[in-house]
Amino acid sequence: MHFLTRRPRRLRRSETIRRMMRETTLQVDDLIMPLFVVHGTGIRQEIAPMPGNYRLSVDQLTKEVKEIAALGIPAVILFGIPEHKDAYGSEAYAKDGIIQQAVRAIKDSVTDLLVITDTCLCEYTSHGHCGVVEHGSVKNDPTIELLAKAAVSQAEAGADMIAPSDMMDGRVAAIREALDTDGFEEVAIMAYAAKYASSFYGPFREAAKATPQFGDRRSYQMDPANAAEALREVAMDIEEGADIVMVKPALAYLDVVWRIRTEFDVPVAAFNVSGEFAMVKAAARLGWLEDERVMSEILTAIKRAGADLILTYFAKDAARLLRRNE
Ligand code: PBG
Ligand code: ZN
Repeated sequence: MHFLTRRPRRLRRSETIRRMMRETTLQVDDLIMPLFVVHGTGIRQEIAPMPGNYRLSVDQLTKEVKEIAALGIPAVILFGIPEHKDAYGSEAYAKDGIIQQAVRAIKDSVTDLLVITDTCLCEYTSHGHCGVVEHGSVKNDPTIELLAKAAVSQAEAGADMIAPSDMMDGRVAAIREALDTDGFEEVAIMAYAAKYASSFYGPFREAAKATPQFGDRRSYQMDPANAAEALREVAMDIEEGADIVMVKPALAYLDVVWRIRTEFDVPVAAFNVSGEFAMVKAAARLGWLEDERVMSEILTAIKRAGADLILTYFAKDAARLLRRNE
């Protein structure tokens, strides 16, 4: 008979021993749920490529966040879809802008939910770019001034954390300084530090009606071929005052998550984006994948790669699954 000293299968024999050997466990505390807010009342429009996700008016949003909080999910990230867009995205920093109204309403209706606001101009600009456009190109320095204004106005409305997603140079420093100057030194910054120019944002752009009207975002978002550059972006954002750094998208960039985790000692977040969610749901609809199992595998993999936090449209489904398995 053949004699084997090492038999790794001994530690996989039963669910009990597999539980003991498990290196990575997903927790509800790791999850952040993205939500889309629109003007109006009684609006709950499903976003076609993202089943179970809606454009919500503020009254519906408050119901939704109560459900989210009841599931134990600690945080939401809000995306505003304004009625009026203009060249400078002025509703992004309007006192009564859609996001400001949404934050106030959430803060009035639930107490223990962390509210993160996505800070960018693309949802608010008529041209759909993430910054100020002059002569057909996106201007960096005028943009960061507007982003700082937007961040302060979100903080005034009650946001706990600001998440700049624009990829302009120097925006974290500009936002940090503006927040501190206005007395919001306790409001944290989660920077979209390594945000790639990705085709996985397709469903989001439809949901937020924020597709660039000309050109693309490659002069500010990162080239998918680059990882060393991501480390430089992260180093800069940390130096400028980011409390948490984010990688986006997640799945095609798990190596980047891992490298950041090993090179820096800061909390790392990963955004499991709209296209990643849509792929799973579409395949499930065709009967080609089991979405719940695939979801678990994906979220566990993102954690295994080194993410402390996961922004994901699966947050509610994952919270329910975790609760069932308790
Ligand atoms: C806005 C923004 C985008 C996403 C988050 N913030 C879209 C983009 O940059 O084009 C993508 C989120 C997703 O796809 O789920 N800058
Ligand atoms: Zn943007």
